[in-house]
Amino acid sequence: MKRSALQAEQKQLEPLVEQPAPSPAPLAPSDAAVGIRIAQATKAFGERVVFSDLSLAIEPGEFVAVVGRSGCGKTTLLRMIAGLETADAGTMAIDGTPVAGLRNDVRLLFQEPRLLPWHRVISNVGIARGPDWRTLAQAALVDVGLGDRANDWPSVLSGGQRQRVALARALVRHPKALLMDEPFGALDALTRAEMHKLLLRIRREYGFTAVLITHDVREALTLADRIVVLRDGAVALDEHINVPLELRGTSPRLGHLEHRVLAEV
Ligand SMILES: Nc1ncnc2c1ncn2[C@@H]1O[C@H](COP(=O)(O)OP(=O)(O)OP(=O)(O)O)[C@@H](O)[C@H]1O
Ligand SMILES: [Mg+2]
Repeated sequence: MKRSALQAEQKQLEPLVEQPAPSPAPLAPSDAAVGIRIAQATKAFGERVVFSDLSLAIEPGEFVAVVGRSGCGKTTLLRMIAGLETADAGTMAIDGTPVAGLRNDVRLLFQEPRLLPWHRVISNVGIARGPDWRTLAQAALVDVGLGDRANDWPSVLSGGQRQRVALARALVRHPKALLMDEPFGALDALTRAEMHKLLLRIRREYGFTAVLITHDVREALTLADRIVVLRDGAVALDEHINVPLELRGTSPRLGHLEHRVLAEV
């Protein structure tokens, strides 16, 4: 990718098997998250209709995973929430305000880390600069477990470490929503499992609203509070997972839900 392009990038159902356990006390302040409201949105690229009637309401602090077949509009949805695409009709609002372009409190994380190779790790994290950028960038690096790699070049990091740097860059200004487009898709299974743990911890500490696009239904059911299936331009399934995180590996409800999701995509 060209330097200029890279720089531009910077800018319910059956009865419940388990009752939800009390969540751990939130560490983040209650204003750390924003709600996202999409009502009767339509979107087409030329003749190709991506969304015909899309409505989705995400509560502040909620973690929603979105799954669906390739080409069903997952990335388009994320870009619409981020203000990078506009809906043709309908309403899109964040925190009650209509979406009109990028916001500082809504950040994106992609499958590729998109680091600038000519900047050291700390500069990549603090790319937006501003007052105290170095202190804030270092704190974000510590949060993702890379406090000792600030002065390295991106090229010497592993794929998983690079994605941690990208996460730190997204976190540096304490976003109120983190929009993730298959962020772990390029990672091996062990690194992916580590990133899952990291994301769950970070999300609890920061308190942001999380939207995770993934093609991996198991990943969605491991991480999220709620799973949404997109199909034929609309929401085909919308389920709260309602299983405590620590029971996700063993819950019979998870297997049942996985079956239902796979039947809907
Ligand atoms: N800028 C664009 N111009 C024209 N068509 C587009 C554009 N962006 C997306 N599309 C089309 O919109 C549809 C949805 O694309 P999108 O990238 O949102 O799918 P996706 O669900 O993210 O797919 P994948 O799982 O493969 O990433 C596709 O048919 C795609 O070709
Ligand atoms: Mg996509």
